Amino acid sequence: MKKWFALLLAVFMVSGLMAGCGARSEQGSENGTKAGNEKIVIKFSHVVAENTPKGQAAIMFEELAEKYTEGRVDVQVFPNSQLYNDDEVLAAVQQNNVQMAAPATSKVSKLFPQWTIFDFPFAFPDTDAVQTAMESEEIGGKLFSMLKEQQLLGLAMWDNGFKQMTLDEHPLYMPEDFKGQKFRVMSSRVLEAQFKALGANPVPMPFSEVYSALEQGVIDGQENTLSNIYSKKFHEVQKYMTISNHGYLGYAVITNSAFWEGLPTDVREGLEKALDETTRWVRENAQRLNQENLEKIKADGTLVEIHELTQEEKEAWMKATDVVYEQFKEEVGEDLINAVMALRK
Ligand code: LMR
Repeated sequence: MKKWFALLLAVFMVSGLMAGCGARSEQGSENGTKAGNEKIVIKFSHVVAENTPKGQAAIMFEELAEKYTEGRVDVQVFPNSQLYNDDEVLAAVQQNNVQMAAPATSKVSKLFPQWTIFDFPFAFPDTDAVQTAMESEEIGGKLFSMLKEQQLLGLAMWDNGFKQMTLDEHPLYMPEDFKGQKFRVMSSRVLEAQFKALGANPVPMPFSEVYSALEQGVIDGQENTLSNIYSKKFHEVQKYMTISNHGYLGYAVITNSAFWEGLPTDVREGLEKALDETTRWVRENAQRLNQENLEKIKADGTLVEIHELTQEEKEAWMKATDVVYEQFKEEVGEDLINAVMALRK
């Protein structure tokens, strides 16, 4: 009798312990923390397709992070707004429901209006100028350090590239062609102001809704990079595209600051190494990917016309939108705007 009782007690204790462990490890993986020998799970949420600069970079980061941490980290990438859309992802990182995201800088402006600095029309002549800005203390240093106020940590800046305009109604040559047309914008007050300055009506909308809004005529046009246009088939529901390179689209790679700081030092170093390598790759390849997408859009033949903005038209667009710089001096900060203007010269 006594033996049976002892055996039963032992079984009961072992199964109780196992159940306890299971609950902890499940919770651990959900919160991106480590329990016992469980892997550290990093959920990485983004909104674009996999065949884009950010989509490719996220996959590369996943592979390198797992390699450099010798399998101690499990990076799980969720593309195409599978987990969260634009309006939700920042809060999800703050609450540590996902551990990493790479929202467009425009979307970070919901928390910090200064981040709209990347949205100013014709602010950056090329992506090298964006990198110079991000590496400078007065622009990048300032923008990254403010993230900490909201439990966020900026890890890197990833390029996509420059945006182009599409419209269904007619070609976009001069500012008057924008008049009365509805354009989708990311949630950024500067982008709204840009379209208003051109006489158009901006409609803020998450990326995941753009295709059907174009298809159903809820909006008439949109601005985006060639890789976003091609991968989401926007060109199939638009007739005209103007290669205007009028605005920059890049990403703030962010994490939850408490999560990152709580990582074992060697794991964090492995992740940083993976990030450095990925960031270098994006810098060298984003432009190529966008160019390849232009060729694919051309080969598709669904657009009626692809127009390259002439110098004269560019000057007219710049003149029409210059007012935005003045409008946001206070909200974004004169110092920041002047620092970017200096790069433009
Ligand atoms: C958009 O909303 O148009 C972009 O931010 C999508 C992206 O992440 O590139």
